[in-house]
Amino acid sequence: MNLLKVIEERKSIRAFKPDPVPREKIEEILRLSILAPSAINLQPWEFIVVTGEEKERLSRRLIKAYKEKQIACSPGNVKPLPKTYGKRGAKTLELMKPFFEEMGVDIDPYINEGSCSFYGAPVAILICLDDSFPKARMVDIGLALGYLVLTAHEFGLGTCPIGLIIAYEDEIKDLLNIPENKNIVIGVGLGYPDWDSPINRFKSQRDNLEKFIRWIE
Ligand SMILES: Cc1cc2nc3c(=O)[nH]c(=O)nc-3n(C[C@H](O)[C@H](O)[C@H](O)COP(=O)(O)O)c2cc1C
Repeated sequence: MNLLKVIEERKSIRAFKPDPVPREKIEEILRLSILAPSAINLQPWEFIVVTGEEKERLSRRLIKAYKEKQIACSPGNVKPLPKTYGKRGAKTLELMKPFFEEMGVDIDPYINEGSCSFYGAPVAILICLDDSFPKARMVDIGLALGYLVLTAHEFGLGTCPIGLIIAYEDEIKDLLNIPENKNIVIGVGLGYPDWDSPINRFKSQRDNLEKFIRWIE
């Protein structure tokens, strides 16, 4: 497929078929993901791939943690969020509403518990960063994530980045024996999209390009 077509088409998938993804395919996606550039070619990313019964165990632990702590999907801002950003998030949720209505489900539990279970994806990938790195190395992780979601799409697979699980990092580290000095930066659900699910017809919009650019000429 053409790269530009992949970029145009890719979207986050929020309902997956349970069909397993062959290990070779996951390896090929990750092999291409690590072709992403990184500062001084440090390649700081580390992938923890969780599948099968272990993935189900992870989902169960995350849902339990969510029910106990009730930390939901949010921008995670550290200062009051300027209105522009809040409006974009609210608009996205508003546009998702009809799809959830069609499914007869409430949006909050679907998104929060769905995120905790990687929306039923058979593969959960956790991308980690050694805690000796500065915040700036998050850029490298983001690039690998970008490559991952695009490559997966090329292979007919769907993805959803899952930031919510970071709120439950301690529980994940405990369950999967992840060393204390590894920070979990982001999770990703990976699998075959369930195209019969209405929510997978949803395509998010972007604000006008001019809102993001300041030209200095
Ligand atoms: C860092 C990051 C964290 C995200 N966390 C979640 C999440 O916890 N749950 C979820 O449903 N979607 C999550 N998403 C997906 C975004 O909601 C999605 O990318 C955004 O709405 C744009 O839609 P698109 O990916 O379909 O283009 C996350 C995306 C990114 C990049």
